[in-house]
Amino acid sequence: MLLGKCIKCGREAEIRLRSPLVKFCREHYIEYVERKVRRVLEKYHMVKKNDLVLICVSGGKDSTSLLHIMHKLSRDMKFSIMGLTIMLSHEEFFKKAVNTAIENYRELGVDYVLVDPLKEYDINLDRLIEARIRRPLCSACGIIKRYIMNSVAIEVKATKVATGHNLDDLMKFLFVNFVSGDIEQLIRTAPISITERRGFVTKIKPLAECSEREMIEYAKAKGLKFIRAACPYKKLGMGDDALEFLNSLDERYPGLKINMFRIYMSKIHPALRSFYRIEEVSLRRCKICNMPSLGEICSFCKLRILVRESRA
Ligand code: AMP
Ligand code: FES
Ligand code: ZN
Ligand code: ZN
Repeated sequence: MLLGKCIKCGREAEIRLRSPLVKFCREHYIEYVERKVRRVLEKYHMVKKNDLVLICVSGGKDSTSLLHIMHKLSRDMKFSIMGLTIMLSHEEFFKKAVNTAIENYRELGVDYVLVDPLKEYDINLDRLIEARIRRPLCSACGIIKRYIMNSVAIEVKATKVATGHNLDDLMKFLFVNFVSGDIEQLIRTAPISITERRGFVTKIKPLAECSEREMIEYAKAKGLKFIRAACPYKKLGMGDDALEFLNSLDERYPGLKINMFRIYMSKIHPALRSFYRIEEVSLRRCKICNMPSLGEICSFCKLRILVRESRA
């Protein structure tokens, strides 16, 4: 199918998107996405010269693309990167994902840390399933991931932690937190975290303005090795239905999704943040592991206790 001409060089276009409306040859599409990520890094002051950014790579298309983009930008913008991959389970899907991430680190010559929470903390997804905990598996898994990301960042002295969340992920979180009235989580749904004062390493989401579609096309255009299947434990929820609806609106009114996000970040988010002042909550330390925590015992240690008790 002929897509017309690349808007940059006039050669035959290979990638055509409706929202935003763009047509590019492969080379100029790659350049377009990388420039977009660079603008996001600058707009939200995500990185400074000499930062060490820990890139969290699951082996999926977003975080693998993030690794390649940050590797490229790190040279121009003068920051360093290191990878982190967490072996969440010993099931085949997760082993493949970890190996894919490692292949990418090796191809780029990026140093990385591989953590197996089963070995280090006697907890992982397999243990959580055995323990039949009441909390949804994905949310318990999120606790493990966030804890390891922060502790590895502290250990390797990383100044930022970067994840591959894209615009679609953020819009989904915004919707779910909005309808459940979870103001604290709503405020936390932003391209850069506001938790550094609480002892957490600042988290950044450099793909915040790139849609799922744009990232699929980027990974394909670059010919990246990534794992295509989604996590076998992922359950679709209301957020996914909302996103489907939003994407159909975005088809009819191109640019709507990104505009909604930008308006949220420029007008609504600052107002919520100054009204609720969640960053002023004082930092405590977990009695067990001494990591930053909201309560006496952090959620990760609570989860470990549940798993240990279920095996006793
Ligand atoms: P998810 O929570 O699976 O949607 O993943 C969101 C982001 O978290 C990904 O884009 C990665 O940056 C990071 N992430 C997820 N799983 C892992 C993992 N096993 N190891 C390292 N980072 C991960
Ligand atoms: Fe955590 Fe799927 S990656 S449950
Ligand atoms: Zn071109
Ligand atoms: Zn703890």
